This record gives sequence, structure tokens and C-alpha cells, in this order.
Amino acid sequence: MAKKIRVAIAGVGNCASALVQGINYYRTNRDDIRVKAVDNLSSKTNTSNNESGLAVNYNDQNRSNGLGLTAYNLGGYGPCDVEFVAAFDVIDSKVGKDLSEAIFAEPNNTVITSHVDKMDVKVQKAEVLDGIGDHYQGKVQLSNNASTDVAQTLKDTHAEILLNYLPVGSREATQFYAEKCLESGVCFINAIPVFIASSPDWQQAFKSKGVPCAGDDVMSQIGATVLHKTLAKLFVDRGVNIEETYQLNIGGDMDFYNMLDEDRLEDKRISKTSAVAAMAPYEVPMRIGPSDYVSFLKNDKISYIYLRGKYFGNIPVEVDVKLKVVDAYNSAGIMIDAIRGAKVALDRNISGSLESVSAYCFKHPPKQMSYNQAKKNFIDFVDGKTDI
Ligand SMILES: NC(=O)c1ccc[n+]([C@@H]2O[C@H](COP(=O)([O-])OP(=O)(O)OC[C@H]3O[C@@H](n4cnc5c(N)ncnc54)[C@H](O)[C@@H]3O)[C@@H](O)[C@H]2O)c1
Repeated sequence: MAKKIRVAIAGVGNCASALVQGINYYRTNRDDIRVKAVDNLSSKTNTSNNESGLAVNYNDQNRSNGLGLTAYNLGGYGPCDVEFVAAFDVIDSKVGKDLSEAIFAEPNNTVITSHVDKMDVKVQKAEVLDGIGDHYQGKVQLSNNASTDVAQTLKDTHAEILLNYLPVGSREATQFYAEKCLESGVCFINAIPVFIASSPDWQQAFKSKGVPCAGDDVMSQIGATVLHKTLAKLFVDRGVNIEETYQLNIGGDMDFYNMLDEDRLEDKRISKTSAVAAMAPYEVPMRIGPSDYVSFLKNDKISYIYLRGKYFGNIPVEVDVKLKVVDAYNSAGIMIDAIRGAKVALDRNISGSLESVSAYCFKHPPKQMSYNQAKKNFIDFVDGKTDI
């Protein structure tokens, strides 16, 4: 695992903070984690397939290390091989600071789990475009610094992958970063619900430039979407007719504050709703999406998921679930998997929208799949068994 993965970040908010801190945590605890991972691998040299068709060693490594990753070693890369080389933001509290400091700047408010040493990556000012909505604007001060040339910075820093972590509703700004990736030949990973990897025009643009992309809208590890999808699929698989369902989410960070602006929410609702709707072969009345901002929750997110249906004998059944998570950390491990999946694509000169990486790691991929199918396809892809 000598090779590094050179990653740039657009939007140094809570998600970027959890990702940087998380990787730093794994780096600090590296020996411990690696020894366990190697022990696990050697004790599982005979990797048979389990019930869901997944190689056993991936699951066992994940469980016993508690890493929050699909596997410690994915396609030859560990979590500590991710190296940050550039970062872009637009607000005064972050622009001009070293990334190690900017991740803790207000209004970021996720949990602090790790001290991060200076990284020598200065957060550069980018074009604001539609990145900062009306609500957001009331809570932050825009930087007066001149905007940097994003494509040139990506080239100068030899970035291989750009992560898009902008606020929901940043359509123009997301397209701007996707263009800059095409211009500089950098892979684009889109964590937000603006449709790039799942849009035929953008798929074609990335394919014709020989550049990969993955997205859209990261699907958290134990998030409301994967839980809701799995429950809906269980109902369908067990012959229950789903009659109605909702998923209401609340949180107290800038992501939720920004989403009070209903005009910016359209793509988020489409993304979250389509992920659950794809699990039923018939139309189900559903309401899914962010529902309110509760400041004292900070980066905690609470989701209420409800499904009602009928089973044998036309008898009603209801499920109510409350899920509470620290939102940003819930997506960080998945992004480390997505980064490594994308790097595998770069190593193998695979371009265009990455189907299995997107289906496994994102809510609105080019092709929706059940969780088990997506995981199997993702692992087959990183193991070199398929190219999609
Ligand atoms: N589990 C999760 O947290 C999760 C899951 C799925 C999707 N997402 C999405 O990921 C995105 C990031 O979430 P977050 O909690 O870090 O949000 P955040 O509001 O904390 O961070 C967004 C950052 O983007 C910056 N920004 C705004 N316009 C910009 C521009 N033009 N260029 C560069 N930077 C710009 C803001 O200043 C801020 O620092 C959101 O769209 C969120 O919905 C998060």
C-alpha cells in the first residue's frame, strides 16, 4: 500500500471535517488496525462465500476492526493512503486557513474526535455562484479574497479526485466544479444531491474526456436512506403490500439550516425518495426528506421512519423507527470507500460514471440496486472481476 490517493475538497463543512479527522484517527491508530486486519486476512485465507454472496473476509475485517469501512484494504488501498492536497471554500472563517484548522472553524459543529496536525493545505477561495443560499448567508461572512483558478490548482497540486461537499441546492456551483474536473482530468465524486453521475449528459462528458465520476448524494453508513430502503425491501420480499411510508429528518447543523430553504430542496427530495421507491415494484405514497432545523441537535441527526402495509389475511402491520446518528461521521467511511473505488478506476483507466461505486456509496446512482446487490457489485469491481 505504498501509493497515495491525492484528493481535493470543495466545501470544508462538517462532512469534510469528519472525513479529515477520521483519516487522521486511522493514521494515528494505524499499527493496531493493520495488525488486526492482517490477522484477519491470514485466518481467512479460504474466503468462501456467505449467504449474501459476499466474500467472508470483507465482512469479518469490517466487524472485528470496527473501522466503519467495507474493508481495511480495498483495491490495495488503506484509509491512510488518502492524502488531501487542495481545498476550496468561500467563507471568511475558513478561506486562507490551513485545512487542519478550517475543519474546526464555525459554523462547523460536528464532534471533535481527533487533533489534526498542520497539513500545509491552505483553503482557497472559489467562486460562490449559488453555493450560499439565503438562510446560509445570514449565518456566515463571505471571504473577500480573490477567487482562485480551480482547474489550475487541481493541476498544480496533482489532485486525482475532487470531492464535492457543497450545500444542498448548489446546482450551478456543482456544475462549475464538474467542469473544472473535466478541464483538469480529475475524477469527480459528488456527495450532494445535484445530478451529475446520474445524468446522461454528464456521463457522456466524463466518458468522452476519459475521466471517471461517481455519485450522486452520498448514502450514509447507517443512515435513514439505507435503513428505509432495507425495510421497504424486506416488506416487499416478505410479501407485505406497502400502503404508505414516510421518513422525516431533523438536525441542527448548517446542512439542515440551509435545507429550510424549500427552493433548494427539490433534488434532495428526489434523491432520497427515489432510493426508497426503487425497492417496491409498485407505487407507494411516500413523503421523504429533511423536515426541520433544531439548533441544539448540532450535527446529530434524528430520523423517524414509518411504514404501514398489509400482510396475510389483509392484516395491517406498522413499523416505526427512530434513528439518531452524528451525521457527518456517518458518511465519512463511505466516502473513504468511494475514494478508493474511484482510485481503482483511475488505476485501470476506467472512465465515465462508475456504476457499482455509485450504486453502493450513493443515494441517486446511475442505476439503483438493493444494498446487497450493490455491495457485491462494488466488491467485484474493486477486486477486478468487472469493469462497471
Ligand atoms: N451524512 C451526511 O452528512 C450527508 C449525507 C448525504 C449528503 N450530504 C451532503 O453533503 C454536503 C455537505 O454537507 P456538510 O454537512 O459538510 O455541509 P456544510 O454546510 O457544513 O458545508 C458546506 C461547505 O461548503 C461551502 N461552500 C458553499 N459554497 C461553496 C463554493 N461555491 N465553493 C466551495 N465551498 C463552498 C460552505 O461555506 C461550507 O463550508 C451537503 O450537501 C449535504 O446535504 C451529507
